[in-house]
Amino acid sequence: MYSTKKINDDLYWVGVNDRKITLFENVYPVTRGMSYNSYLLLDKKTVLFDTVDSVASLQFLENVSHALGERELDYLIVNHMEPDHCANIGAIVARYPSVKIVGNAKTFVMMGQFFDFDIESRKVVVKEGDVLDTGRHSLTFVMAPMVHWPEAMVTYDTVDKVLFSADAFGSFGAMSGNIFADECDFESEWIDDARRYYTNIVGKYGMQVTNLLKKASALEISKICPLHGPIWRENIGYILDKYIKWSSYIPEEKGVVIVYGSVHGHTENAAEVLANLLGDRGVKNIRLFNASMTHYSQIIAESFKRSHIVFACATYNMALFPPMQVILHELAEHNLQNRAFAFIENGTWTPASAKLMSEVLDKLKNNKIIGQNVTVKSALNSDSYAQLARLADEIAQDVKQV
Ligand code: FEO
Repeated sequence: MYSTKKINDDLYWVGVNDRKITLFENVYPVTRGMSYNSYLLLDKKTVLFDTVDSVASLQFLENVSHALGERELDYLIVNHMEPDHCANIGAIVARYPSVKIVGNAKTFVMMGQFFDFDIESRKVVVKEGDVLDTGRHSLTFVMAPMVHWPEAMVTYDTVDKVLFSADAFGSFGAMSGNIFADECDFESEWIDDARRYYTNIVGKYGMQVTNLLKKASALEISKICPLHGPIWRENIGYILDKYIKWSSYIPEEKGVVIVYGSVHGHTENAAEVLANLLGDRGVKNIRLFNASMTHYSQIIAESFKRSHIVFACATYNMALFPPMQVILHELAEHNLQNRAFAFIENGTWTPASAKLMSEVLDKLKNNKIIGQNVTVKSALNSDSYAQLARLADEIAQDVKQV
Protein backbone atom coordinates (compact mmCIF):
# COMPACT_ATOMS: atom_id res chain seq x y z
CA MET A 1 0.00 0.00 0.00
CA TYR A 2 1.19 3.52 -0.76
CA SER A 3 2.63 5.55 2.08
CA THR A 4 2.92 9.22 1.12
CA LYS A 5 2.68 12.51 3.01
CA LYS A 6 1.43 15.91 1.93
CA ILE A 7 3.85 18.81 2.36
CA ASN A 8 2.10 21.61 0.47
CA ASP A 9 -1.04 21.68 -1.65
CA ASP A 10 0.89 20.33 -4.62
CA LEU A 11 4.01 18.83 -3.02
CA TYR A 12 4.22 15.29 -1.60
CA TRP A 13 6.79 13.22 0.22
CA VAL A 14 7.04 9.92 -1.67
CA GLY A 15 10.10 8.57 0.13
CA VAL A 16 10.69 5.37 2.06
CA ASN A 17 12.04 4.23 5.41
CA ASP A 18 14.43 1.34 5.96
CA ARG A 19 14.49 -0.25 9.40
CA LYS A 20 16.39 -3.35 8.34
CA ILE A 21 19.61 -1.51 7.53
CA THR A 22 22.34 -1.83 10.15
CA LEU A 23 25.23 -0.07 8.39
CA PHE A 24 24.62 2.97 6.18
CA GLU A 25 27.10 2.95 3.30
CA ASN A 26 28.11 -0.41 4.78
CA VAL A 27 30.14 1.43 7.41
CA TYR A 28 28.03 3.70 9.68
CA PRO A 29 25.89 1.99 12.34
CA VAL A 30 22.29 3.19 12.12
CA THR A 31 20.38 1.67 14.99
CA ARG A 32 17.31 3.77 14.09
CA GLY A 33 17.37 2.90 10.38
CA MET A 34 17.40 5.40 7.51
CA SER A 35 14.94 7.39 5.50
CA TYR A 36 15.40 8.02 1.79
CA ASN A 37 13.37 11.07 0.89
CA SER A 38 11.93 11.76 -2.51
CA TYR A 39 9.43 14.49 -3.38
CA LEU A 40 6.78 14.85 -6.06
CA LEU A 41 5.53 18.23 -7.28
CA LEU A 42 2.16 18.22 -9.05
CA ASP A 43 2.29 21.44 -11.02
CA LYS A 44 1.20 21.93 -14.64
CA LYS A 45 4.20 19.72 -15.21
CA THR A 46 4.89 16.91 -12.74
CA VAL A 47 8.33 16.79 -11.16
CA LEU A 48 10.01 14.07 -9.08
CA PHE A 49 12.97 15.16 -6.96
CA ASP A 50 15.44 12.26 -6.74
CA THR A 51 14.62 8.59 -6.19
CA VAL A 52 15.49 6.23 -3.32
CA ASP A 53 17.77 3.34 -2.43
CA SER A 54 17.23 0.00 -4.17
CA VAL A 55 16.24 -1.57 -0.85
CA ALA A 56 12.73 -0.11 -1.09
CA SER A 57 12.00 0.18 -4.81
CA LEU A 58 8.54 -1.38 -4.66
CA GLN A 59 7.28 0.93 -1.93
CA PHE A 60 8.78 3.93 -3.68
CA LEU A 61 7.24 3.14 -7.07
CA GLU A 62 3.87 2.56 -5.44
CA ASN A 63 4.16 5.92 -3.68
CA VAL A 64 5.01 7.75 -6.90
CA SER A 65 2.25 5.99 -8.80
CA HIS A 66 -0.34 6.84 -6.15
CA ALA A 67 0.70 10.48 -5.87
CA LEU A 68 0.71 10.91 -9.65
CA GLY A 69 -2.70 9.33 -10.07
CA GLU A 70 -3.55 9.27 -13.76
CA ARG A 71 -0.88 11.80 -14.66
CA GLU A 72 2.39 11.17 -16.47
CA LEU A 73 5.74 12.07 -14.95
CA ASP A 74 7.26 14.97 -16.88
CA TYR A 75 10.56 15.59 -15.06
CA LEU A 76 12.93 13.78 -12.74
CA ILE A 77 15.38 16.19 -11.13
CA VAL A 78 18.53 14.41 -9.98
CA ASN A 79 20.16 16.47 -7.27
CA HIS A 80 22.53 13.68 -6.26
CA MET A 81 23.80 10.56 -7.99
CA GLU A 82 24.85 8.47 -4.99
CA PRO A 83 23.02 5.13 -5.20
CA ASP A 84 21.00 5.71 -2.01
CA HIS A 85 19.16 8.28 -4.13
CA CYS A 86 19.75 7.37 -7.76
CA ALA A 87 19.13 3.61 -7.61
CA ASN A 88 15.61 3.86 -8.99
CA ILE A 89 16.28 6.18 -11.92
CA GLY A 90 16.23 3.20 -14.29
CA ALA A 91 12.95 1.95 -12.81
CA ILE A 92 11.38 5.41 -13.18
CA VAL A 93 12.48 5.63 -16.81
CA ALA A 94 11.10 2.15 -17.50
CA ARG A 95 7.75 3.06 -15.95
CA TYR A 96 7.52 6.62 -17.34
CA PRO A 97 9.42 6.45 -20.63
CA SER A 98 8.65 10.02 -21.68
CA VAL A 99 10.21 11.51 -18.52
CA LYS A 100 12.90 14.18 -18.98
CA ILE A 101 15.83 13.89 -16.59
CA VAL A 102 17.28 17.12 -15.22
CA GLY A 103 20.86 17.27 -13.95
CA ASN A 104 24.16 19.04 -14.49
CA ALA A 105 26.97 17.91 -16.78
CA LYS A 106 28.63 15.86 -14.02
CA THR A 107 25.31 14.23 -13.13
CA PHE A 108 25.04 12.73 -16.58
CA VAL A 109 28.62 11.47 -16.65
CA MET A 110 27.87 9.52 -13.47
CA MET A 111 24.47 8.42 -14.74
CA GLY A 112 26.15 6.90 -17.77
CA GLN A 113 28.45 4.96 -15.45
CA PHE A 114 25.63 3.60 -13.32
CA PHE A 115 22.99 2.98 -16.03
CA ASP A 116 22.81 1.90 -19.64
CA PHE A 117 19.36 3.16 -20.68
CA ASP A 118 19.03 5.90 -23.30
CA ILE A 119 20.06 8.99 -21.35
CA GLU A 120 20.80 11.28 -24.30
CA SER A 121 17.24 11.60 -25.56
CA ARG A 122 15.93 12.41 -22.08
CA LYS A 123 18.53 14.63 -20.56
CA VAL A 124 18.09 18.31 -19.71
CA VAL A 125 21.47 19.73 -18.71
CA VAL A 126 21.36 22.63 -16.28
CA LYS A 127 24.00 24.84 -14.71
CA GLU A 128 24.14 27.32 -11.84
CA GLY A 129 21.17 29.68 -11.90
CA ASP A 130 19.25 27.94 -14.66
CA VAL A 131 15.47 27.92 -14.18
CA LEU A 132 12.85 25.31 -14.98
CA ASP A 133 9.30 26.66 -15.14
CA THR A 134 6.73 24.00 -14.39
CA GLY A 135 3.56 26.12 -14.42
CA ARG A 136 2.96 27.87 -11.11
CA HIS A 137 6.42 26.98 -9.85
CA SER A 138 9.83 28.14 -10.93
CA LEU A 139 12.75 25.89 -10.02
CA THR A 140 16.28 27.30 -9.83
CA PHE A 141 19.36 25.08 -9.76
CA VAL A 142 22.25 25.79 -7.41
CA MET A 143 25.44 23.77 -7.69
CA ALA A 144 26.73 22.25 -4.44
CA PRO A 145 29.92 20.39 -5.42
CA MET A 146 31.24 17.99 -2.75
CA VAL A 147 28.11 18.28 -0.64
CA HIS A 148 28.59 15.35 -0.83
CA TRP A 149 29.80 14.29 -4.29
CA PRO A 150 31.16 16.50 -7.09
CA GLU A 151 27.88 16.53 -9.05
CA ALA A 152 25.66 17.42 -6.09
CA MET A 153 23.26 20.31 -6.58
CA VAL A 154 20.23 21.69 -4.79
CA THR A 155 16.99 22.97 -6.26
CA TYR A 156 15.12 26.04 -5.02
CA ASP A 157 11.45 26.66 -5.69
CA THR A 158 11.31 30.45 -5.90
CA VAL A 159 7.51 30.49 -5.62
CA ASP A 160 6.93 28.47 -2.45
CA LYS A 161 10.50 29.11 -1.13
CA VAL A 162 11.28 25.42 -0.77
CA LEU A 163 14.90 24.28 -0.84
CA PHE A 164 15.44 20.70 -1.99
CA SER A 165 18.79 20.39 -0.27
CA ALA A 166 20.08 16.95 -1.33
CA ASP A 167 22.32 15.45 1.40
CA ALA A 168 22.62 18.77 3.23
CA PHE A 169 20.48 19.08 6.39
CA GLY A 170 19.94 15.30 6.44
CA SER A 171 20.17 12.83 9.28
CA PHE A 172 20.61 9.18 10.05
CA GLY A 173 17.38 7.57 11.30
CA ALA A 174 14.10 6.37 9.85
CA MET A 175 11.02 8.55 10.28
CA SER A 176 7.89 7.33 12.03
CA GLY A 177 4.86 9.18 10.74
CA ASN A 178 6.22 12.62 11.60
CA ILE A 179 8.16 13.94 8.64
CA PHE A 180 8.58 17.51 9.91
CA ALA A 181 11.31 18.45 12.39
CA ASP A 182 8.80 20.52 14.38
CA GLU A 183 6.65 17.42 14.96
CA CYS A 184 9.47 15.82 16.96
CA ASP A 185 11.69 16.88 19.82
CA PHE A 186 14.60 17.34 17.43
CA GLU A 187 17.05 18.37 20.16
CA SER A 188 16.57 15.14 22.09
CA GLU A 189 15.53 12.72 19.34
CA TRP A 190 17.46 13.77 16.24
CA ILE A 191 20.33 16.16 16.75
CA ASP A 192 22.91 13.50 17.69
CA ASP A 193 22.11 11.50 14.56
CA ALA A 194 22.04 14.67 12.44
CA ARG A 195 25.46 15.66 13.78
CA ARG A 196 26.92 12.18 13.27
CA TYR A 197 25.46 12.13 9.75
CA TYR A 198 26.83 15.55 8.82
CA THR A 199 30.26 15.20 10.39
CA ASN A 200 30.95 11.79 8.90
CA ILE A 201 29.35 12.22 5.47
CA VAL A 202 30.36 15.78 4.60
CA GLY A 203 32.41 16.95 7.61
CA LYS A 204 35.55 16.81 5.49
CA TYR A 205 34.15 19.38 3.07
CA GLY A 206 33.55 22.32 5.40
CA MET A 207 34.62 24.92 2.84
CA GLN A 208 32.21 23.56 0.22
CA VAL A 209 29.36 23.46 2.74
CA THR A 210 30.19 27.03 3.74
CA ASN A 211 29.94 28.02 0.06
CA LEU A 212 26.51 26.43 -0.16
CA LEU A 213 25.39 28.15 3.06
CA LYS A 214 26.47 31.50 1.61
CA LYS A 215 24.32 30.87 -1.45
CA ALA A 216 21.44 29.74 0.76
CA SER A 217 21.71 32.87 2.91
CA ALA A 218 20.64 34.92 -0.12
CA LEU A 219 17.42 32.90 -0.40
CA GLU A 220 14.19 33.26 1.50
CA ILE A 221 13.55 29.71 2.71
CA SER A 222 10.23 28.48 4.07
CA LYS A 223 11.04 24.77 3.94
CA ILE A 224 14.14 22.62 3.65
CA CYS A 225 13.49 19.21 2.10
CA PRO A 226 16.59 17.02 2.56
CA LEU A 227 17.19 13.56 1.14
CA HIS A 228 17.38 11.98 4.62
CA GLY A 229 15.51 12.74 7.83
CA PRO A 230 12.94 15.35 8.81
CA ILE A 231 11.82 18.33 6.72
CA TRP A 232 12.35 21.82 8.16
CA ARG A 233 9.47 24.32 8.08
CA GLU A 234 9.91 26.01 11.49
CA ASN A 235 12.92 27.25 13.43
CA ILE A 236 15.12 26.88 10.35
CA GLY A 237 17.68 29.15 12.01
CA TYR A 238 18.39 26.37 14.53
CA ILE A 239 19.69 23.90 11.94
CA LEU A 240 21.38 26.64 9.91
CA ASP A 241 23.30 27.68 13.03
CA LYS A 242 24.42 24.07 13.58
CA TYR A 243 25.58 23.87 9.97
CA ILE A 244 27.49 27.14 10.23
CA LYS A 245 29.34 25.80 13.29
CA TRP A 246 29.98 22.34 11.87
CA SER A 247 31.16 23.56 8.48
CA SER A 248 33.51 26.14 10.01
CA TYR A 249 34.74 23.64 12.63
CA ILE A 250 33.58 25.75 15.57
CA PRO A 251 32.85 23.70 18.73
CA GLU A 252 29.22 23.76 19.81
CA GLU A 253 30.18 23.73 23.48
CA LYS A 254 33.00 23.67 25.98
CA GLY A 255 33.77 20.11 26.94
CA VAL A 256 36.33 17.34 26.90
CA VAL A 257 36.22 14.13 24.90
CA ILE A 258 38.60 11.48 26.23
CA VAL A 259 39.20 8.53 23.94
CA TYR A 260 41.31 5.65 25.11
CA GLY A 261 42.78 2.60 23.46
CA SER A 262 43.67 0.17 26.22
CA VAL A 263 44.88 -3.44 25.94
CA HIS A 264 44.78 -4.62 29.57
CA GLY A 265 43.05 -1.75 31.35
CA HIS A 266 45.93 0.43 32.54
CA THR A 267 45.51 3.08 29.85
CA GLU A 268 41.80 2.98 30.57
CA ASN A 269 42.62 3.62 34.24
CA ALA A 270 44.69 6.68 33.28
CA ALA A 271 41.80 8.00 31.19
CA GLU A 272 39.31 7.44 34.02
CA VAL A 273 41.62 9.17 36.51
CA LEU A 274 42.03 12.15 34.18
CA ALA A 275 38.26 12.40 33.73
CA ASN A 276 37.80 12.53 37.50
CA LEU A 277 40.59 15.06 37.93
CA LEU A 278 38.94 17.27 35.31
CA GLY A 279 35.58 16.91 37.03
CA ASP A 280 37.21 17.87 40.33
CA ARG A 281 38.44 21.05 38.65
CA GLY A 282 34.95 22.06 37.59
CA VAL A 283 35.12 20.93 33.97
CA LYS A 284 31.70 19.97 32.63
CA ASN A 285 30.63 17.99 29.57
CA ILE A 286 33.31 15.32 29.88
CA ARG A 287 32.76 12.25 27.69
CA LEU A 288 34.90 9.12 28.01
CA PHE A 289 35.02 6.57 25.19
CA ASN A 290 36.64 3.15 24.85
CA ALA A 291 38.07 3.10 21.32
CA SER A 292 37.56 -0.66 21.13
CA MET A 293 33.84 -0.39 21.87
CA THR A 294 32.89 2.83 20.08
CA HIS A 295 32.43 3.28 16.34
CA TYR A 296 34.70 5.96 14.99
CA SER A 297 31.71 7.87 13.60
CA GLN A 298 30.58 8.61 17.14
CA ILE A 299 34.02 9.89 18.13
CA ILE A 300 34.05 12.15 15.08
CA ALA A 301 30.64 13.57 15.97
CA GLU A 302 31.61 14.13 19.62
CA SER A 303 34.86 15.76 18.53
CA PHE A 304 33.01 18.18 16.25
CA LYS A 305 30.71 19.01 19.15
CA ARG A 306 33.24 19.71 21.91
CA SER A 307 36.28 21.93 22.35
CA HIS A 308 38.94 19.63 23.84
CA ILE A 309 40.00 16.08 23.00
CA VAL A 310 42.38 13.85 24.94
CA PHE A 311 43.79 10.74 23.33
CA ALA A 312 45.13 7.99 25.58
CA CYS A 313 46.71 5.06 23.79
CA ALA A 314 48.79 1.99 24.43
CA THR A 315 51.83 1.40 22.27
CA TYR A 316 51.16 -1.78 20.32
CA ASN A 317 53.75 -3.50 18.12
CA MET A 318 55.67 -0.21 18.26
CA ALA A 319 52.66 1.41 16.62
CA LEU A 320 49.26 2.65 17.81
CA PHE A 321 46.68 0.31 19.30
CA PRO A 322 44.62 -0.50 16.16
CA PRO A 323 41.19 0.85 17.26
CA MET A 324 42.83 4.20 18.11
CA GLN A 325 44.69 4.21 14.83
CA VAL A 326 41.37 3.99 12.97
CA ILE A 327 39.85 6.82 15.02
CA LEU A 328 42.85 9.11 14.59
CA HIS A 329 43.06 8.41 10.89
CA GLU A 330 39.36 9.21 10.43
CA LEU A 331 39.63 12.42 12.47
CA ALA A 332 42.55 13.48 10.30
CA GLU A 333 40.51 12.65 7.19
CA HIS A 334 37.61 14.80 8.38
CA ASN A 335 39.63 18.02 8.68
CA LEU A 336 38.82 18.70 12.33
CA GLN A 337 40.07 22.19 13.26
CA ASN A 338 40.03 24.73 16.07
CA ARG A 339 40.41 22.14 18.80
CA ALA A 340 42.78 21.58 21.72
CA PHE A 341 44.40 18.14 21.87
CA ALA A 342 46.29 16.37 24.66
CA PHE A 343 48.01 13.00 24.68
CA ILE A 344 48.57 10.17 27.15
CA GLU A 345 50.80 7.30 26.09
CA ASN A 346 51.45 3.93 27.63
CA GLY A 347 54.10 1.31 26.96
CA THR A 348 55.80 -1.37 28.99
CA TRP A 349 59.20 -1.17 27.31
CA THR A 350 59.19 1.70 24.75
CA PRO A 351 56.19 4.06 25.04
CA ALA A 352 55.86 5.74 21.64
CA SER A 353 52.17 6.35 21.12
CA ALA A 354 52.06 10.08 21.98
CA LYS A 355 54.49 10.91 19.20
CA LEU A 356 52.68 8.58 16.80
CA MET A 357 49.28 10.11 17.64
CA SER A 358 50.47 13.67 17.20
CA GLU A 359 52.05 12.73 13.86
CA VAL A 360 48.67 11.53 12.57
CA LEU A 361 46.95 14.75 13.66
CA ASP A 362 49.76 17.08 12.53
CA LYS A 363 48.18 17.41 9.08
CA LEU A 364 45.15 19.16 10.58
CA LYS A 365 45.08 22.97 10.70
CA ASN A 366 44.45 25.41 13.53
CA ASN A 367 44.59 22.97 16.42
CA LYS A 368 46.79 23.27 19.49
CA ILE A 369 48.40 20.86 21.92
CA ILE A 370 47.81 21.39 25.63
CA GLY A 371 50.43 20.55 28.25
CA GLN A 372 53.12 17.91 28.24
CA ASN A 373 52.40 14.43 26.95
CA VAL A 374 51.77 12.09 29.88
CA THR A 375 53.81 8.89 29.81
CA VAL A 376 52.59 5.83 31.67
CA LYS A 377 54.95 2.89 31.91
CA SER A 378 52.68 -0.16 32.23
CA ALA A 379 50.50 1.26 35.02
CA LEU A 380 49.92 4.59 36.73
CA ASN A 381 52.34 5.38 39.58
CA SER A 382 52.88 8.47 41.69
CA ASP A 383 55.01 10.11 39.00
CA SER A 384 52.57 9.57 36.11
CA TYR A 385 49.66 10.49 38.40
CA ALA A 386 51.37 13.81 39.04
CA GLN A 387 51.77 14.29 35.28
CA LEU A 388 48.04 13.62 34.86
CA ALA A 389 47.18 16.13 37.57
CA ARG A 390 49.30 18.81 35.86
CA LEU A 391 47.60 18.03 32.55
CA ALA A 392 44.18 18.27 34.23
CA ASP A 393 45.15 21.72 35.59
CA GLU A 394 46.14 22.92 32.14
CA ILE A 395 43.09 21.52 30.36
CA ALA A 396 40.73 22.93 32.99
CA GLN A 397 42.37 26.34 32.65
CA ASP A 398 42.12 26.22 28.88
CA VAL A 399 38.48 25.10 28.87
CA LYS A 400 37.60 28.18 30.93
CA GLN A 401 39.12 30.40 28.26
CA VAL A 402 37.19 28.96 25.30
FE1 FEO B 1 22.54 10.29 0.83
FE2 FEO B 1 25.56 11.25 -0.61
O1 FEO B 1 23.94 10.27 -0.43
